[in-house]
Amino acid sequence: VPPRATMRGTVAALIQSCLILLVRADQWLKDSGNCELNKKQSELNSFLWTIKRDPPSYFYGTIHVPYTRVWDYIPDNSKQAFQESNIVYFELDLTDPYTISALTSCQLLPQGENLQDVLPRDIYRRLKRHLEYVKLMMPSWMTPDQRGKGLYADYLFNAIAGNWERKRPVWVMLMVNSLTEADIKTRGVPVLDLYLAQEAERMRKRTGAVEKVEEQCHPLNGLNFSQVIFALNQTLLQQESLRAGSVQVPYTTEDLIRHYNCGDLNSVIFKHDTSQVPNFKNVTLPPSEQVTAQEIDSYFRQELIYKRNERMGKRVKALLEEHPDKSFFFAFGAGHFLGNNTVINVLRRQGYEVEHTPAGQPIKHLPHLLFPPDSLELLEKAERKMLKKKRRNKQKKQRHRHFNDLWVNMVHSPPPPMVRIINGYITVQPPERPQHHNYDYHQVYSAAPSFCSLSSLLAMVICLTTIQNLRALVL
Ligand SMILES: *[C@@H]1O[C@H](CO)[C@@H](O)[C@H](O)[C@H]1NC(C)=O
Ligand SMILES: *[C@@H]1O[C@H](CO)[C@@H](O)[C@H](O)[C@H]1NC(C)=O
Ligand SMILES: *[C@@H]1O[C@H](CO)[C@@H](O)[C@H](O)[C@H]1NC(C)=O
Ligand SMILES: *[C@@H]1O[C@H](CO)[C@@H](O)[C@H](O)[C@H]1NC(C)=O
Repeated sequence: VPPRATMRGTVAALIQSCLILLVRADQWLKDSGNCELNKKQSELNSFLWTIKRDPPSYFYGTIHVPYTRVWDYIPDNSKQAFQESNIVYFELDLTDPYTISALTSCQLLPQGENLQDVLPRDIYRRLKRHLEYVKLMMPSWMTPDQRGKGLYADYLFNAIAGNWERKRPVWVMLMVNSLTEADIKTRGVPVLDLYLAQEAERMRKRTGAVEKVEEQCHPLNGLNFSQVIFALNQTLLQQESLRAGSVQVPYTTEDLIRHYNCGDLNSVIFKHDTSQVPNFKNVTLPPSEQVTAQEIDSYFRQELIYKRNERMGKRVKALLEEHPDKSFFFAFGAGHFLGNNTVINVLRRQGYEVEHTPAGQPIKHLPHLLFPPDSLELLEKAERKMLKKKRRNKQKKQRHRHFNDLWVNMVHSPPPPMVRIINGYITVQPPERPQHHNYDYHQVYSAAPSFCSLSSLLAMVICLTTIQNLRALVL
């Protein structure tokens, strides 16, 4: 048997087995797919938890998909909790230019090093070939809607993969994962977590972050060389099979959107976490590779979930104690609230009462912000109007702006005037935000695969340790 055929056979078997391992999650996806959307308010899925105190504070689980796809299914009481809170905290402060530059540099290889020097020749060659393929396909992947907004394929490709040769292998692996047709099609609208940050800023709320850039970035860089090469190799193998048409993408952004919109919090997602280490019994991976896959999985689970949840929980507690009279809204990736050792568990251990808040359950109004029920809608309308006006003004201003204000490393077509790239998320016509200069925004988390939507900013953090870990690391 020619070696190529053997390899393909192995990969196919591997993928097959992994799909079987995912049966439970898959079942869940199917169930969610059947859920009827446009349900009554009281039946919507809720990612809101109330921290009982006076005034109350909230945890909210965000997701890393275009907000327009989930907004209508977010219960009114979650939106109200957001509007009424005084201070909004995220995982990272994306409005701080330092955050962006630190994220960018954290992903780069040491000065003077190049991927070509670092990667095994075979891997480098396959990576290069795959990226050439993606570049070639990109124009056909983009939707008319994206083109209508002025997003060009060249631009998008350079935005996401422009300096791939300078990135650390682990970030290149994540980048490759985000360069699929399904994920490319979702670019152009702010993802929910970014949208909330923009809204908070627009509503002049105080905002902040519970994590430092390094705390998100360093654990990823801490995987050792052989582990990273293993993960990159498996990722490339998967993409190569996709290209050859021999497998389908097991999970897409569409699936995750469905989860979020109608997933049952009490069902599989909780259970899934208890069986995160994949069962390779039927897998044809050599034993040493099975061990590597498991080691990577436990490393990420420990370093990127449990340790971070612990730290985030402690900082939440400190904030609550420091500002007893303020109502907080903590918007973190949904994955930080699901499963084992969550942020909620940390708070409960510290003596706080934290309760899941189903859709339809009234939240406690803050006296100074008490709206009669339908004035909220009026307010939203007024806000939208104001926003439109602001955008028009901004559009005028932007025409006179230098291209370099928006983008520093453009090779091909100039960016359309209203396109901004913030932390990897390409946003068309965003609301007013402070100007950041000289940062290569899109380089930053462009790697974060948007299908790994359970976490907010570090999408892959959660994804690697939940359903998606198999796709990223094993498949
Ligand atoms: C990487 O880590 C694994 C597990 O901790 C270990 O077995 C392996 O020897 C390490 N490899 C290198 C190159 O350090
Ligand atoms: C990539 O993975 C395949 C299949 O597991 C393996 O045969 C091959 O040796 C790996 N290549 C590298 C460079 O690790
Ligand atoms: C929960 O997390 C701990 C690590 O702190 C782990 O030892 C334990 O096995 C996990 N429990 C389940 C059911 O996964
Ligand atoms: C493993 O293979 C056996 C027989 O081929 C099958 O019955 C079983 O369901 C498989 N288990 C898993 C976890 O794939």
